[in-house]
Amino acid sequence: MAVEALKPDFADTGEQLEKQSASHKQEQVGRATFRVWRGDSTGGKLVDYTTQVTEGMVVLDAIHQIQADQANDLAVRWNCKAGKCGSCSAEVNGNPRLMCMTRLNDLNLEEPVTVEPMRAFPAVRDLVTDVSWNFTVKKRIKRFKPRPPDAPDGTWRMAQADIGRVQEFRKCIECYLCQDVCHVLRDHHKHDSFIGPRFLVYVAALEMHPLDTENRIAELKEAHGVGYCNITKCCTAVCPENITITDNAIIPLKERVVDEFFDPIARLVRLVRGKR
Ligand code: SF4
Ligand code: SF4
Ligand code: FES
Repeated sequence: MAVEALKPDFADTGEQLEKQSASHKQEQVGRATFRVWRGDSTGGKLVDYTTQVTEGMVVLDAIHQIQADQANDLAVRWNCKAGKCGSCSAEVNGNPRLMCMTRLNDLNLEEPVTVEPMRAFPAVRDLVTDVSWNFTVKKRIKRFKPRPPDAPDGTWRMAQADIGRVQEFRKCIECYLCQDVCHVLRDHHKHDSFIGPRFLVYVAALEMHPLDTENRIAELKEAHGVGYCNITKCCTAVCPENITITDNAIIPLKERVVDEFFDPIARLVRLVRGKR
């Protein structure tokens, strides 16, 4: 009897759910306009594309849809669509963002959504920029130089706290959004004399590594231009991996430069104790 009574209820509930889901989907479907930069190294302009959008879509989905339906030659770089490869960096409504991690329901779709290439690097085509300068910067930074092994079997001993300190820096996906937002590169074009927040994070990871014996302090002050950073923290604000770039990487590096060049007692302590 109880089973008989349950059957129609269950069926009704299923039908109701289907109806609710269909109407919900209908509510989620709409149209939105994307104002996309089209051009190359010689110049370009913003072009409006209106396309269908649904709940759950990200900016990269909309760009792909526009590419498929309206602008087959629209250039966009991407790989993982999971916020891990760092390829789809662009400026969405003027903010440096990963397109694959920027949900449309976090944007105001009543207004056109602008999608532009990163401004700190030369334009290649449409949303693709030439980020190869970053690769040349990385080559200029002194490599990891570990101390000799601590044990005859060729292994080292390290404190977990020391490992933990650099672990955060290893999360970097090299999206270069922090380089894009940094005014030293973006507005003042100091690409020849400043390595930018991404590579200050890289230097910090090496300098603070418990096994590293190399000294990069002189380069930090001169060729890497750490002094250009005035701690605005814009880089930290845009990092998709939530690396505390300014407080945990750049400020400790600045302190090392000050200790080395302007504080003889701290320098002496550092020489006696080794790198910290
Ligand atoms: S904190 Fe320094 S590195 Fe970061 S964006 Fe500001 S000036 Fe650039
Ligand atoms: S530090 Fe953050 S913002 Fe900068 S390149 Fe790495 S992941 Fe991107
Ligand atoms: S496609 Fe890989 S981070 Fe966006």
